[in-house]
Amino acid sequence: MEIDPNERLDLAVCGGTVVTATDTMRCDIGIHEGRIVQLANGLAKRAEQVINVEGKLVLPGGVDAHCHLDQQSPSGLRHADDFFSGTRSAAGGGTTTIIPFANQKKGATLRSIVEDYRLRALNRAVVDYAFHIIVSDPNDQVIGQELPSLIGEGYTSFKVFMTYDALRITDLQMLTLLSLASREGALLMVHAENHDCIEWLTDALKSAGKTEPKFHGVAHSAVGETEATFRAISLAEVSGASLMVVHVSSARALEEIERAQARGLRVFAETCPQYLVLTQDNLCNCGFEGAKFVCSPPPRSVSDQRALWRGLASGSLHIFSSDHAPYRYEGATGKKSGGEHVPFDRIVNGVPGLETRLPILFSEGVQKGRIDIQQFVALTATNPARLYGLYPRKGTIAIGSDADLAVWDPGLEVEIKHEILHDAMDYTPYEGMKVRGWPMITISRGEVVCRNGEVTSSAGRGHFLLDDRIVTRGAGKFRNRLSPSGGQYYST
Ligand code: URP
Ligand code: ZN
Ligand code: ZN
Repeated sequence: MEIDPNERLDLAVCGGTVVTATDTMRCDIGIHEGRIVQLANGLAKRAEQVINVEGKLVLPGGVDAHCHLDQQSPSGLRHADDFFSGTRSAAGGGTTTIIPFANQKKGATLRSIVEDYRLRALNRAVVDYAFHIIVSDPNDQVIGQELPSLIGEGYTSFKVFMTYDALRITDLQMLTLLSLASREGALLMVHAENHDCIEWLTDALKSAGKTEPKFHGVAHSAVGETEATFRAISLAEVSGASLMVVHVSSARALEEIERAQARGLRVFAETCPQYLVLTQDNLCNCGFEGAKFVCSPPPRSVSDQRALWRGLASGSLHIFSSDHAPYRYEGATGKKSGGEHVPFDRIVNGVPGLETRLPILFSEGVQKGRIDIQQFVALTATNPARLYGLYPRKGTIAIGSDADLAVWDPGLEVEIKHEILHDAMDYTPYEGMKVRGWPMITISRGEVVCRNGEVTSSAGRGHFLLDDRIVTRGAGKFRNRLSPSGGQYYST
């Protein structure tokens, strides 16, 4: 990008400490037409508008690469958040790019579900977005025509499930999809839980009258997660493909991932806030309240949390996402939709977390010395942007990148309450949790979209990133450069 040093700037963000996945520096950020055009001191005098951020940290806006909006659960319950409320919530929590999932219902064409999802997002989003695709029916048309053509258009990541009757695919289908992904330059994401283990344990628990929400955590065992994780890795190894294991919740599943990485396999992994700060004890909350914490895999033990923190620090976990799956507690489409006495296997799975993802990791991770600030940026912005083909336009602060920034007050103490969040939910699983550090200003392509807790932008300003042609098939090239056995920092 050519830079004219005398050019007027639309905006200068001045006086802050700028942090990327590799550096921390004191400089101003000059912005023109939504892009970063200069990193230097003394830019205020050249700018139409100046935001003074003395004493604050300026980080890349977050990239939340795993969230669910405006789709249905396997049992047909609709998410509370659409692209408007979901992206408002993202902006409120310092996230400027989201990648939700267009879900294929068995029998539907991928083209139709992608087109439908584009319409759902149209004129609704406050920040930028791309899509992953959930493939539940990899029939001949999907494998032979639809996926190759969609990958060519930039839909370079898709998720498959090893459990849920409405979604799960066979090992043979997974092999076919893995080899297709490898051939076409896409990345397969896997929900790894052993379906038969879940079914068998669920039947046994229910036969013994054990039906409360807390038994969800027993039915979705860490052993079942571990077996499925190992199996998915083995299928990736056989087919020679890369693999992304999403929402890793247990020490044992992580051990399988680390073993594979040590063997040189390109296995990437993600974890989420619910596995770091919630445990199975939350599911034991009195009465039906434990339903608020039902997600799959479920929150586990303190020793699992410790292992995940180690994985975040060592680099064996590459991405930190929310897995925002917004089902209200009350009402006809939420946790209580079947009444307060339904057995655990009829409680819809998922917890919200788009807005709280970054503050939780910052407070519990950076402030408590478990990870450093560069690792925080890598896990929450740079790595997801790289792995899903959005880098360097997204996920960093560099000349030519989109001016997507989050200005953090690292000392601000906030008590998380649902009333301060911007989603369309009626609860947060983190109610009452105290965090230190919060993004005070969120800037998307040079426009302030949230300031001091107030979302200032309107529906429809968010871009679909495939329209901008920035999602690249070449993401595979970057994937090769993510050290599989650790090390999260890269140069281009
Ligand atoms: O329980 C969860 N995680 N629900 C969302 C869908 C998924 O599996 O990611
Ligand atoms: Zn999943
Ligand atoms: Zn999910």
